Amino acid sequence: MSFLIRWLWKNLQGYRKRYVFAMFLSVVCQVMFVFNPIFTRIIVDTFISGENAAENLATRKDLLYSLVALTVAVNLFRTALQYATNMTYEVCSQGVIYRVRAYLFDNIHKQDASFYDYYRTGDIMTRLSGDIEMVRHSTAWIIRVILESFVIFTAAAVFFFTISVPMALCMVALTPFLFIISFVFRRKVGPMYGDLRERLSDLNTAAEENISGNRVVKAFAAEEFEKSRFGSFNGEYSSANKKTALVWWKFFFPMETASQAIMAVHLTAGGLFVIGGEITLGDYMAFSMLIWTMSGPMSWLGNIINDLQRFTASANKIIEIYYSRSRIADRADAVELDGGIKGDIEFKNVSFGYGHEEALSDVSFKIKAGQTVAIMGETGSGKTTLVNLIPRIYDVTKGEITVDGHNVRMLKLAQLRSGIGMATQEVLLYSDTIEGNIAFGNSGMDFSGVEACAKAADADGFIKNTSDGYDTIIGERGVGLSGGQKQRIALARALAIKPSILILDDTTSAVDSETEKHIQESLKNLDFTCTKIIIAARISSTKDADKIIVLKGGKIAETGTHEELLRNNGYYREVYDLQS
Ligand SMILES: Nc1ncnc2c1ncn2[C@@H]1O[C@H](COP(=O)(O)OP(=O)(O)O)[C@@H](O)[C@H]1O
Ligand SMILES: [Mg+2]
Repeated sequence: MSFLIRWLWKNLQGYRKRYVFAMFLSVVCQVMFVFNPIFTRIIVDTFISGENAAENLATRKDLLYSLVALTVAVNLFRTALQYATNMTYEVCSQGVIYRVRAYLFDNIHKQDASFYDYYRTGDIMTRLSGDIEMVRHSTAWIIRVILESFVIFTAAAVFFFTISVPMALCMVALTPFLFIISFVFRRKVGPMYGDLRERLSDLNTAAEENISGNRVVKAFAAEEFEKSRFGSFNGEYSSANKKTALVWWKFFFPMETASQAIMAVHLTAGGLFVIGGEITLGDYMAFSMLIWTMSGPMSWLGNIINDLQRFTASANKIIEIYYSRSRIADRADAVELDGGIKGDIEFKNVSFGYGHEEALSDVSFKIKAGQTVAIMGETGSGKTTLVNLIPRIYDVTKGEITVDGHNVRMLKLAQLRSGIGMATQEVLLYSDTIEGNIAFGNSGMDFSGVEACAKAADADGFIKNTSDGYDTIIGERGVGLSGGQKQRIALARALAIKPSILILDDTTSAVDSETEKHIQESLKNLDFTCTKIIIAARISSTKDADKIIVLKGGKIAETGTHEELLRNNGYYREVYDLQS
């Protein structure tokens, strides 16, 4: 818990003074609640029930008026103060979550690919929405209620004891019960909130996957199946919620009873003390009013324990991502190459595994800047894995990869990656204009530059035929474009940064062979030199490469030029025969 508080305090940066001020106002307001009973006690004892009440009422009317006026003034002032307190808490709590949200978003971006292999989108979204809201709630409400309850209880206790020790003792005798009840409840409900959160994140993940995957669902007529899958997550979340709520109501009963008992004790003991002459009627009234004031915080307290558990569950989830550090990051002694990356690449006995199994084993090859390398192999042979290692989407497990003679781990990540243009196998476009998508990595690019890249990717023709040309807004993830069209925009986007290393992962798989020929031509005549790594299944895409690498089960099975591999009579020859 103290860790969570420290974390909150850290994120209150810029609002700390205001937050402390809000807490100060809280204390003042609560202490002012004690003024009402004090004034009432004086009024009752002086003018209503005291020995000289009738005489005082006749002769000291001015005192009565000023006491009444004072009471009104104090209450008005306290109300104004409470307004200011509310505003200050609100401003501070919004400040905290603004900061946390911005930091989380930034940190999520910095994570390596294994982070995304591990966390599901729905889960991250839950952390960024509901969990953050819980942090706001705790800064604006939970901490405040705890502080205010503490102050009002202490102030009331002090006041009770100054009026009448035996009466105060009667009331205090009940508090241990309240503590025991809350303690038991806390232990019971704590794990439930953790569970509840997990269910919510499952539910969000299912919803998120169904929304992004709606085309697949339709294509497989899997609506019913998905409905029932979502239904079961929905049911689990709902029953977890119900279970927690039931525990809460079970707990509400003894808690409420204990609060009522305080009233009962007050009525009985107070009445007896008044009759016995041990306290005055004014004292009794003052007790009454304070207990009334305390009944609010007392009934909140149960909720607060509830909220505190939810806050802990949520905050822990946020902090997990907050402090998550990518293993792939700049070293302190990272080198910056003068004039950027040239494009020499070497794999030296590289092995890599996602888990225990190796996806690549002992891969070695060399590419000189400006050369073209084609990579072939069956699905799952490790082609995508191999190219992902160059921009350090993942880091090698064994061996090393050098770019321009430097181990990629020693290069500044930003420099390394901005020198690499990549068109990934799964094309992801943003809901932005076509122009915006192409200029994604090079936002300063002017229109003629964008057009030139689109032409090189043989995309200019179809783009001009869309409703608004380059200003056409592409739907989320490129909805509205065919697979081949998306691939060509992705290629244009990769070319737009004028990369020293261009990686094309099955980028022409969905375009017809005529278009592919055009793309091949323009890739040969780029107005900048770059090393090209082309993953493709068609011989037509690979035959002109300076080197062809055939992968099989994560190992290099064959390597050489087109002619050499044809003579080799291996996988390449087989594919060649099949395609011609
Ligand atoms: N993110 C991942 N997590 C775990 N295993 C993966 C991941 N991506 C790929 N693999 C596994 O690594 C192997 C190589 O995959 P990949 O490089 O994508 O092959 P290719 O691109 O040649 O089809 C496959 O066995 C695949 O199951
Ligand atoms: Mg692949």
